Amino acid sequence: MADKRRFDLFADFIVTRFPAPRVFDVAGGQGRLNEALTRRGREVTTFDLRHKHLPVRYAQRIFTVDEPCEAELVVGMHPDGATRVIIEYAARHHLPFAVVPCCSDNGMPYNPWMRHLAEVARGAGFGRVEEVTLSMDGRARVLVGEPAAR
Ligand SMILES: C[S@@+](CC[C@H](N)C(=O)[O-])C[C@H]1O[C@@H](n2cnc3c(N)ncnc32)[C@H](O)[C@@H]1O
Repeated sequence: MADKRRFDLFADFIVTRFPAPRVFDVAGGQGRLNEALTRRGREVTTFDLRHKHLPVRYAQRIFTVDEPCEAELVVGMHPDGATRVIIEYAARHHLPFAVVPCCSDNGMPYNPWMRHLAEVARGAGFGRVEEVTLSMDGRARVLVGEPAAR
């Protein structure tokens, strides 16, 4: 069972670290991270497929790299198969990203998956790639990427 505090903890981390006024929350499930970030003053769009979701700005569709860019930051909490696309999207649009991976999209165990994602981010040209851990149970490691200066 995932830690119920994860949305507030991740939202606190995001607003402390990134000034971005508009945030894309990818694979956001019911929209709880959106709700937490909105409470903290950010404009957030959640992408996921849930029919039943909170009354937040919600794009009920699969997020792809072709999504028009209307955000300064892209994030994902336990985004399953969307983890890699978050990094690819951020790279394409020269945005920072913060993602809390859970399962890999190819059966890779967790630790190698985390190392692989960091390599993907470095390979995609992020100038700064680092890991931070949220103080919560379960999958709590945040991978952060910031674009190199242009
Ligand atoms: C484990 S759930 C996590 C949901 C929520 N972030 C949370 O922490 O409770 C993973 C979610 O990823 C969504 N998802 C996976 N790939 C996606 C994509 N490309 N675009 C949008 N949602 C996606 C699924 O529909 C599912 O709701």
